[in-house]
Amino acid sequence: MAPRVTDEPMTEQTPVTHASAKIVPQLPDMQTVTEVKHFTDRLFSFRVTRPASLRFRSGEFVMIGLMGDEDPATGKRKPIMRAYSIASPSWDEELEFYSIKVQDGPLTSKLQHIQPGDGLILRPKPVGTLVHDALLPGKRLWFFATGTGFAPFASLLREPQTYEDYDEIVITHTCRELGELTYGRDLIEGLKTDELLNEVIGEGFWKKIKYYPTTTREDSPKMGRITDLMRSGEAFTDLGVPPLSPETDRAMICGNLAFNLELKEMLESYGLNEGANSNPQQYVVEKAFLD
Ligand code: A2P
Repeated sequence: MAPRVTDEPMTEQTPVTHASAKIVPQLPDMQTVTEVKHFTDRLFSFRVTRPASLRFRSGEFVMIGLMGDEDPATGKRKPIMRAYSIASPSWDEELEFYSIKVQDGPLTSKLQHIQPGDGLILRPKPVGTLVHDALLPGKRLWFFATGTGFAPFASLLREPQTYEDYDEIVITHTCRELGELTYGRDLIEGLKTDELLNEVIGEGFWKKIKYYPTTTREDSPKMGRITDLMRSGEAFTDLGVPPLSPETDRAMICGNLAFNLELKEMLESYGLNEGANSNPQQYVVEKAFLD
């Protein structure tokens, strides 16, 4: 699971970044925003420079944040930090993140206004369980996401090892509305022309992917929660694959808390066990960031 949020105090001399001001990064942990894309009034993605020393495994997360407002009592500012999955793959020269916008959220109320050139605090200590190392070898890999829980899978889908290790990758993404599927859909479509993957894995690698997007609150070609669609068997019929089995199937879960718990229980009922970095098994789970 994602770690608890840390609010580390900083000194009064610490240079401060405003989302609206173009300030050259001066803190050791400060990176520069290079690109921002807004998808809906609730979702956006952004890219930042990558610290030269940062090494991570596709699927891991880091703490990122911005300076908070001045405390009226002390006059000091503290960084507001949250755990964010890195959505870019381990080989990318920049870092990408995919975020929700919460109007009164401590961080995302500010973060949604960032612009290229702004600073972003990034603690370069990647961790997480949605990594290939935490799973035993298998034939079919399932990614189960809701909302911004797609982020770690955006990283893993651009990671060559995903296609080296598995014959088939099934991506399920349940969102409230159609617009919330855009980031994932565009990313998957982009894989067809991904030069690195085509070169390293071979042309047509993307045919290993089965994409199963569903919506719950707006009409779309496939409606319903993935959990219900699996329970009824409809998802397996649509996908043309059998229900999950511990012999062949591996899974990664990243969504809201209720989703994670429900899916965990379902996977256990199929006979899959939860793994960790220190004890690879058949599935792993991580909470998607919520402000
Ligand atoms: P629903 O609209 O039926 O609540 P959110 O934006 O609230 O995090 O939800 C993202 C998506 O996850 C929504 O489509 C939501 O469906 C779905 N969802 C929420 N809880 C569960 C759950 N326990 N199992 C499956 N899907 C869920």
